[in-house]
Order: sequence, then C-alpha cells, then structure tokens
Amino acid sequence: MITPAQRVSEVKEYYFSLKLKEIAEMIKDGKPVINLGIGNPDQPPAPEVLETLNQSALQPDTHGYQGYIGIPELRASFSHWYKKFYGVTLNPDSEILPLMGSKEGIMHISMAFLNPGDEVLVPNPGYPTYSAVTRIVGAKERSYDLLEANNWQPDLDALEKEDLSSVKIMWVNYPNMPTGAKASREFFEKLIAFARRNDILICNDNPYSFILNEEPQSLLAIAGAKEVAIELNSLSKSHNMAGWRVGMAASNPEFIKYILRIKSNMDSGMFRPMQEAAAKALMLEEKWYNEINAVYKKRKELVLKIMELLGCTWQEDQVGMFIWAKIPEKYSSSEELSDKILYEANVFITPGFIFGDNGRQYIRISLCTSEEKLQESINRIENIITN
Ligand SMILES: Cc1ncc(COP(=O)(O)O)c(C=O)c1O
Repeated sequence: MITPAQRVSEVKEYYFSLKLKEIAEMIKDGKPVINLGIGNPDQPPAPEVLETLNQSALQPDTHGYQGYIGIPELRASFSHWYKKFYGVTLNPDSEILPLMGSKEGIMHISMAFLNPGDEVLVPNPGYPTYSAVTRIVGAKERSYDLLEANNWQPDLDALEKEDLSSVKIMWVNYPNMPTGAKASREFFEKLIAFARRNDILICNDNPYSFILNEEPQSLLAIAGAKEVAIELNSLSKSHNMAGWRVGMAASNPEFIKYILRIKSNMDSGMFRPMQEAAAKALMLEEKWYNEINAVYKKRKELVLKIMELLGCTWQEDQVGMFIWAKIPEKYSSSEELSDKILYEANVFITPGFIFGDNGRQYIRISLCTSEEKLQESINRIENIITN
C-alpha cells in the first residue's frame, strides 16, 4: 500500500475549499448563492498594468526562465513603493525577495528558520496558513490570544512571563485579518524590543495595508526591526492582482539569503511579463488606491447594514477588506449563524471559528462583492428575519 507522508495528516482540507464545494452543489441545485466569504478582489488591475503585461508577452524574448531573485525592475519598484508609502528604505539588491504571493513566503520562511520541535507563536484568531505550515514543517504551534478587549493585539507582558526559550518565530499580521485591527506604533516598538530580548523572529504579514486605511504601516519602519523581523507583502489586495501571485519578503540581507536558498530549490522565477507589469503597478500614484477604496467604502456601508440586520456589533475603526463583527448571544456559535444564513437566505458569510476559537462568536464579511449583490443579500436576509 502506498501511504502519504505523516505531514499530510497534520493538515485538513481548507475550510473554504470544502465550503466552496458545498456552495457549488447548492448552485447546481438551482440555489443562487451569493458568496460574501472570500477576500478575492473583483475589480481589475490598472489598465496600464494590463497593457504592460500584454506588450511584454508579445515580445519573443520574454518567455524563458527568469532569475531566482526577480528582475531588477521589480525589486526597484518594491523598494520605491516601500519608501514612498511606508517611509522604509530597502536595498533592492539585497533586502527584497519577490515571491509568488505572500502565502508562499509563509512556507519559505518556515522552511528556512524552523527545526522540528521549534515553537511558533500563532495568532488566535488568525490566518489558518500560519498554523498549517508550522505543522507541515514539523514545528509546534503555540497560539496566542488576540482579544477585542485588548484591541486585537497580543499581551506581550503576559507572554513574556511564560517560558519562551523554544519559540523561534512569532507570526503577526497588521493590519489584522480577520479582525481589521491596526497596530499602533507603540505596539510595533514594543514588539521589536520583545523580539530582541527573547531572540524571536517576528514575521509581519502585511497584505492589507492599502485597503480603507489612511496610513499604510510597515513593521520595518521601527528602528532595528530588520535585524529581528521579516515582512511579507503582496499585490493581491492592494492592486487587485490576487490571481497573478506576486508578493515579496523584505528583511536584512542574511535572512533574505536563507529564504532564497529554499525558494531557489522550489521554483524557477516568475513569468517576465508579469514581473514587468507588477513593477508598473507598484509605481502607481495615490489616485489608484483612492479609486479602489472609493468602491470599498460604498460597499462597507451595505455590509454594515447586513451586520445590523443580523444584530451584530462591531468596532468602527476597522481597516482592510473585511468587516468583523460579534454575533448576538442567542447563537451558540458563528457556524450556527453562518449556516442559517446560507441555507435560509442563500448568502455565505464566513464564520469566525475557522480563524481559531477566539473567533467563535464573530463573523466576517468580505467587501469583494458588488453593491448590487450586497443589496440583494440585504433583501434576502431581511426576508428571513422578518418572516
Ligand atoms: C492574512 C493573509 N496573509 C496572506 C494571504 C495570502 O495573500 P497572497 O495572495 O499574497 O498569497 C492572505 C489571503 O487571503 C491573508 O488573508
């Protein structure tokens, strides 16, 4: 009998993958499900980005293997982007590594820094990939609480009272998904000091900083951060390019070299026209971000109406591509409410439990759906609530 490796049993099929299959079945059965679950931008990239892709793809000499570290133009554009919007200086030749989305960075960093048995601090609630990848590489997940009462920021003082000697990496993600919380500068400073005292590598996953957020923030803006931190970033959400798979890791040259050693054994560079187009996207002016955010702003009002209809409560100062809200106490869990809305109103809303048990009493709605569909969702939910 041919059996899979032990690590396959360490991870389950992604909740969304299972739920999307169920939704596809429902649609096949004639139920017009509206999916408000997934943060998959539905607006197109900027026209000049598409033009660059097309023009470059028409050239006969852009189709071969590319270097492992991305084309210089792309690294230069990432560097420009970090300087202009985050006030962070990054050497394009040594401190930036283009990636196929930030998600692959989570795997590469884990492979580059973790030995079996090392502990990894993972946020609860948080993006499920941090814990899945930790288990895949044979390290130990150690979850830390994010609570509304603490504005969804870890209690570093409490953590430091514990034995942290086996902890190698701490995953943080600000602006936070799923809660929409921003990090304060004081918190980032405290986090870097905590990392230095405890020899912990901080990895900030930062794909949401341009969505409905006045001040994009990078952990690398904190003095000394590059020595103990890596930041992942991405064009998926900021430039409506989720399907392209373009992201980056930034840190000191040594850390970038470790990640590259793993990555260069796993892929052979991104399609050159895509890299040229991504470089173009990173040079877009503020106007681009303002235009996409104007669309999200209108949708946010409709999403808040849905939350109100469901009797949920939420924090006003959320940023990013989702609204995170607390469900009324009459529901025993977010799954109960999410399933009720799916089966009775044919509207899918993400139950917060999938991000960890601190998300049990919360739901998350994505802003990646048209106003028309959001209005239709409001009508359907009103119907099931009033009938
Ligand atoms: C917190 C977080 N990190 C990373 C990702 C993956 O982004 P990318 O498309 O850059 O791989 C997502 C995508 O939903 C996310 O929510």
